[in-house]
Amino acid sequence: MSIRTICCIGAGYVGGPTMAVIADRCPGIQVTVVDLNQARIDAWNDPDLSKLPVYEPGLDAVVGRCRGRNLHFSTAVEPAIAAADMVFLSVNTPTKTKGVGAGQASDLRWIEASARQVAACAQGHTIVVEKSTLPVRTAETVQAILSAAQGDGASGGSPKTFAVLSNPEFLAEGTAIPDLEQPDRVLIGGDDPAAIEALAGVYGQWVPNDRILRTNLWSSELSKLTANAFLAQRISSINSIAALCEATGADVQEVAHAIGADSRLGSKFLKAGPGFGGSCFQKDILNLVYLCGHYGLHEVAAYWQSVVELNGWQQHRIARLVVQRLFGTVTGKRLAVLGFAFKADTNDTREAPAIRICRDLLEEGAQLAIYDPKVPASQMGNDLGHVGGVDAWQAVGSPLAAVQGADAVLILTEWLCFASLDWSQLAAQMRKPAWLFDARSIVDLQAAKSAGLNVWRVGMG
Ligand SMILES: NC(=O)c1ccc[n+]([C@@H]2O[C@H](COP(=O)([O-])OP(=O)(O)OC[C@H]3O[C@@H](n4cnc5c(N)ncnc54)[C@H](O)[C@@H]3O)[C@@H](O)[C@H]2O)c1
Repeated sequence: MSIRTICCIGAGYVGGPTMAVIADRCPGIQVTVVDLNQARIDAWNDPDLSKLPVYEPGLDAVVGRCRGRNLHFSTAVEPAIAAADMVFLSVNTPTKTKGVGAGQASDLRWIEASARQVAACAQGHTIVVEKSTLPVRTAETVQAILSAAQGDGASGGSPKTFAVLSNPEFLAEGTAIPDLEQPDRVLIGGDDPAAIEALAGVYGQWVPNDRILRTNLWSSELSKLTANAFLAQRISSINSIAALCEATGADVQEVAHAIGADSRLGSKFLKAGPGFGGSCFQKDILNLVYLCGHYGLHEVAAYWQSVVELNGWQQHRIARLVVQRLFGTVTGKRLAVLGFAFKADTNDTREAPAIRICRDLLEEGAQLAIYDPKVPASQMGNDLGHVGGVDAWQAVGSPLAAVQGADAVLILTEWLCFASLDWSQLAAQMRKPAWLFDARSIVDLQAAKSAGLNVWRVGMG
């Protein structure tokens, strides 16, 4: 079966960029991305490509090439499903906040709702692709919902039939476009060979066949959780060693370099920092923990739980050491925070380390001046609320504005622009003795020291 029309439910950080690249690489396929969120769809349709709701380097050019040609963004969910040969489910799957499994299990209400919409609106044969990250065996639920509608031909069209595939997304925010254009691998899980080959045929238009892996449904679903758990585990591992380096006089950059030279370990993802953030790592590990508990594997659950705990500990540790270095109190002191996004090259702040660190400092009474090149003040407001009082923090327009009268500057996101800051200019605006806390190992420490700043860098003993 060759695919001519695709509908993607969910126009978020995954649905938007993924479908833009599919449309770009497959000019013969009409791709419609639908979402219930009108403001988000309006932003995807904004003639000004700098206003897209997702910031990713290169995304504006891809959308600019395809939008209106074979890439469409709409809130009209039902007709887009009805017209589609293939429907991607790319909706949010956050951690449940209440009920059974609260704090660990994924909240599947949006997956269920979108599966029900597909069941109701699809016509003829439809391949349904799980793009969201899901607990193992969710495809069974999706299949059950679709099966209940199977055979219906009430609208006068041919009877409905469905095939369900798992196709988890491995893109990383900040590098989504190159990750989608040259993926390390594409994973397709399923038990319907024709459906698998139809999806492989879409990716095959730009991805070499040996990079398209075919597995059973459950392996595919579990591989995504496992990949994120292993990646997050490396961050927690190196951050645990960073703390030990600070205590012993070792330097975590030297340690990471030395161990990364071992080809069994590899050099990637060994950067110490303020801990992982983003919408996925913590959620997916907690989901894994929940699954392990469900199957009675309590030691396995505890093992992965510790990866999340170490991450939270690292963030609180950084906030605590800032307070300690500033003579044990930050009450009433102005602190400049550079970077709020959870990583560079994204406007996403979900689970950003900056949130926990800023909250801790606000609770200690600090006054924060926060600068991020892509995160708007309104988003910072959503994340920080009124911790520390209504006027305890402000968003500012530049690093220079942030440091005015500050006792310290904290680097919490590795935006490249922070690597070339003019420390003599910045230090001149700060109250002495002044500190630089570089949680991302990105600034020129010698320049900062020469400008008279006291310096702490993560993992430098
Ligand atoms: N963000 C990442 O880097 C990343 C990477 C890989 C996988 N994932 C996974 O992909 C999935 C989506 O993540 P995201 O970051 O794009 O989420 P997101 O919150 O940015 O986007 C999800 C979108 O789905 C929409 N939606 C929800 N229910 C809907 C419905 N019934 N009909 C129409 N629209 C609906 C929401 O309005 C929202 O805009 C999650 O399962 C996530 O774990 C995310």
